[in-house]
Amino acid sequence: LASIEVDVASLTPGMSLTVKWRGKPIFIRNRTPEEVKAAADVQLSDLKDPIARNANLPPDAPATGADRSGGKDKENWIVMIGTCTHLGCVPLGQAGEYNGWFCPCHGSVYDTAGRIRKGPAPENLAIPTFSFLSDTKIKIG
Ligand code: FES
Repeated sequence: LASIEVDVASLTPGMSLTVKWRGKPIFIRNRTPEEVKAAADVQLSDLKDPIARNANLPPDAPATGADRSGGKDKENWIVMIGTCTHLGCVPLGQAGEYNGWFCPCHGSVYDTAGRIRKGPAPENLAIPTFSFLSDTKIKIG
């Protein structure tokens, strides 16, 4: 199936964009150091869903801040499928109690790593297959 390439050179820390891939919204965010730290400081035992849900990692990889991101040296980057894991609405960015994403349909709250923290959604926002072609170009799919 088709993959897409996204130029993220214009995304300075704190900025995000949404692209479409296979008919779904994909959230790409360049997290600030504070957002990275907020996500990294969370204990796995405090998470409703402790699994990374990252298609680039083994299915049982834990939902650490790093494993929910572009990886160790690209931990600022978030790439996720923007579909609420409850009933599929599109969450709003930089919103909600954890300043991550907030789903207005039934109130699910996701943190700065897209992990479900409150509300009816059962799982973290899914991470699609992606890779960095360069520091500023991401291939999705
Ligand atoms: Fe998002 Fe129900 S669809 S909370």
